[in-house]
Amino acid sequence: MRQITLINGDGIGPEISNAVMKIIDASGLKIDWDIQTAGADVIETEGTPLPDRVIESIKRNKVALKAPVTTPIGKGFRSVNVQLRKSLDLYANLRPCKNLVNVKTKFENVDIVVVRENTEDLYAGIERQVDNDTAESIKVITRKASERICKFAFDYAFKNNRKEVCVVTKANIMKLSDGLFLECFRDVAQNYQSIKTREILVDNLCMQLVQNPSQFDVLVLPNLYGDIVSDLCAGLVGGLGIAQGANIGSDYAVFEPVHGSAPDIKGQNKANPTALLLSAVEMLKYINEHEYAEKIEKALFKTFKDGVFTQDLGGKATTLEFADAVIKNLNQ
Ligand code: NAI
Repeated sequence: MRQITLINGDGIGPEISNAVMKIIDASGLKIDWDIQTAGADVIETEGTPLPDRVIESIKRNKVALKAPVTTPIGKGFRSVNVQLRKSLDLYANLRPCKNLVNVKTKFENVDIVVVRENTEDLYAGIERQVDNDTAESIKVITRKASERICKFAFDYAFKNNRKEVCVVTKANIMKLSDGLFLECFRDVAQNYQSIKTREILVDNLCMQLVQNPSQFDVLVLPNLYGDIVSDLCAGLVGGLGIAQGANIGSDYAVFEPVHGSAPDIKGQNKANPTALLLSAVEMLKYINEHEYAEKIEKALFKTFKDGVFTQDLGGKATTLEFADAVIKNLNQ
């Protein structure tokens, strides 16, 4: 039986993890989940939010499914997500945003793939307090990381029959850092003549996205813009409850929803498990379990077609009722 690491997170994490494990189990695919806890809950007992055992488990299994983990804002420990991405060198964050059947949104025909650089930029965590009234964060952009994320975006576009890759920067202002990212994009693009390229500034991109999102195909962005724009794109297709994601490196991959731990609805059996389920479907494709991935995806879309939705999408189903509806559709 294949062993896969499951970080079940906190907040709504355990609720949606249980729903997703139940659905995968009902599909007939047997997985030996190596459940690993992380975050605030383990600090007291283990002295760190990301114990070595979690990293070792992912290194052993190569693949992990991860539910969200709370990060304290402004103070406290450094984000488990950022640490995980850095320590496993998960340099590419992949977030497909596509209209789902029967999920009502303001736009139709949205099919955007956001490829976000995951290891540097302002998220490198290099900050200092200059004096009581001044703090600095350093934006790090390197040729190595920029070239490999642009290559990842073009490779993804090529393999998935996408037509265009658009690079997003603010190179008119940050001429050195974003300028280097843009230069790397142009260099890498030379090797992919069959794919069209486009260059856009991040402020213009945001305006265009909320007016006419269907004009965009694959977007490649440095870390900070990628984080913000991928939430915006999730909103275009129905919100965080359905937005899937993956962090991919050369050796390991961690699949996780875009959303956070949603403390406002924790423990209420209200959370939408779709984003974690779609992340799990991508994970199954990644480990070549295509038959089960398609079976689960079909059952999920049938559930939407039947009009069964959790509250975030205007429905009445609880997390567990929604999972049961998907399970019922697995064999239809
Ligand atoms: P959030 O994504 O947790 O919640 C934003 C809003 O969306 C809330 O109203 C929430 O109820 C709703 N929402 C999110 N996921 C949902 C779901 N599956 N079903 C239904 N409604 C859902 O963002 P927020 O509140 O900014 O962050 C909360 C915590 O999560 C923070 O500590 C943050 O650092 C952490 N976080 C963790 C991430 C991760 O582990 N990958 C990613 C983003 C945030």
